[in-house]
Amino acid sequence: MTNAPILVTGGTGTLGGHVLPLLRAAGRDVRVLTRTARPAGDGVAYVTGDLLKDEGIDGALDGVTTVLHLAGGAKGDDVATRNLVRAARRAGVEHLVYISVIGADRLPIGYFRAKLGAEQAVADSGVPYTTLRAAQFHDLALKVAAGMARLPVVPAPGGIRWQPVDAREVAARLVELALDAPAGHVPDLAGPKVYPMGELVRGYLKARGKSRPMLPVRVPGKVGRAYRAGDNLTLAGAETGRRTWEAFLAERAA
Ligand SMILES: NC(=O)c1ccc[n+]([C@@H]2O[C@H](COP(=O)([O-])OP(=O)(O)OC[C@H]3O[C@@H](n4cnc5c(N)ncnc54)[C@H](OP(=O)(O)O)[C@@H]3O)[C@@H](O)[C@H]2O)c1
Repeated sequence: MTNAPILVTGGTGTLGGHVLPLLRAAGRDVRVLTRTARPAGDGVAYVTGDLLKDEGIDGALDGVTTVLHLAGGAKGDDVATRNLVRAARRAGVEHLVYISVIGADRLPIGYFRAKLGAEQAVADSGVPYTTLRAAQFHDLALKVAAGMARLPVVPAPGGIRWQPVDAREVAARLVELALDAPAGHVPDLAGPKVYPMGELVRGYLKARGKSRPMLPVRVPGKVGRAYRAGDNLTLAGAETGRRTWEAFLAERAA
């Protein structure tokens, strides 16, 4: 087994927080690229840099052969990824693993377009790669549901469905992929069940012992049409996680 550290971008985020202990358990040294300096600990070293500003990337890649690229934000994932892959090519990286999102190629929303641009940058980089598209994590569904449940009347957007997946299962799949050979674009990873948006919020309310009136609404325009067509879902051919939204909510409530 190689002693080279694995570089994890986004190692301080939700997904990264699940990935780091799995890499450590596999006996790998881990280096994390972050915008905020922090002390090393538990076999994880932190290197300061900023993918969007193209700062600190070469240093972070020094001696690294495998990169798990999990860093992401609301905007600019294409730009950040282009900066990373340029440096990865220079550094002779042998495997770059990228986390994208289901619907990257179909949803007419800036975040999804940027994820598609990032996927393309990875595929065109010349660096051997593996790209996994995942559905929305339970953590994100929780934020959305909690936000909607704060309203006195909860909007229930008609025809919009989610298939949320547990971030721990996405982390486990990514680590498995990172420790294996580059595989290109692998099958999507979605959650075990598809929920109409209103049902997701109803599940949240139930878990909190609350109730709210729901008001059916229609999301207008091409974004609404794309969601109603299920462009954010992979209903056939995806791998599916096992942990359900209800199980996640029960865990959080406990
Ligand atoms: N959340 C979902 O439902 C979902 C679904 C599918 C795919 N994804 C993808 O999964 C990845 C991780 O998502 P998450 O929810 O775990 O993210 P998160 O909790 O919001 O964390 C974002 C991470 O990105 C890093 N980051 C942001 N901008 C950066 C920059 N300019 N330079 C370097 N690092 C930067 C942050 O590091 P510092 O703040 O320490 O710098 C942080 O570790 C993202 O690529 C996201 O698009 C998410």
